[in-house]
Amino acid sequence: MKKVYILLIFSCMLLLTTCISDISSPNACFNEDVLPIFISNCTYAGCHNATEKKADYNLTSYEAIMKGITPKHPLQSEIYNTIKGSNPSMPQTPYPMLSKKDVYTIKTWIQMGARNTSNCKTCDTTNFTYGNRISTTLQTWCVGCHNSNNLGGGFDLSNYNGAVSAAENNKLLGSIKHLSGFSAMPKNGAQLSICEISAIEKWINKGFPQ
Ligand code: HEC
Repeated sequence: MKKVYILLIFSCMLLLTTCISDISSPNACFNEDVLPIFISNCTYAGCHNATEKKADYNLTSYEAIMKGITPKHPLQSEIYNTIKGSNPSMPQTPYPMLSKKDVYTIKTWIQMGARNTSNCKTCDTTNFTYGNRISTTLQTWCVGCHNSNNLGGGFDLSNYNGAVSAAENNKLLGSIKHLSGFSAMPKNGAQLSICEISAIEKWINKGFPQ
């Protein structure tokens, strides 16, 4: 009998920890994790931006994205159904399908209630090397429009050298700080957080540490 109880307690604990780790998943903050996936993969010219709204979908803001989302029910969410699986209907060719990680992030966010959350992580002010920080920021917010097949403004931000050359002519910082004389980036999206902008600024000022 004792054994059964121990087993029962153990399985309850296991269940509880899986639930908790799901709830606190770092990948489900709307403004920092979910929105950039849409901005960087779906809002190209001719697609789902505020002016063109293909299929009546503008994927540049929380309110507009929620039109295709049923909170807590990914499979009842039109947007999720178009991006999931091995042969998704979106993004359309020639644009690549979303990565498994991005699809999972969106799914988790929907399952958690699809709330308009932001600042879920504390600002890390000490980490600003390319490998540990900057490449992730650019990957999240910019690379969908700045890669070798899709060279927004002539810039490939998918690798170290490309990022350095955008930074060296001052356009990188000018565009993310929304200074006059530069195209404001990320295009179609809100400005990066002060935390991310200051990390990129430090990376530039320290001479682009790898
Ligand atoms: C939705 C697509 C899209 C996203 C997302 C995007 N860009 Fe751009 N970017 C462009 C296009 C297109 C241009 C060409 C200029 C224009 O149309 O505004 C451009 C231009 C630029 C330029 C040149 C600016 C200038 O004034 O000449 C820089 C630098 C740049 N982007 C950096 C970034 C960075 C950094 C991010 C992420 C934080 C980003 N972009 C996100 C599409 C995008």
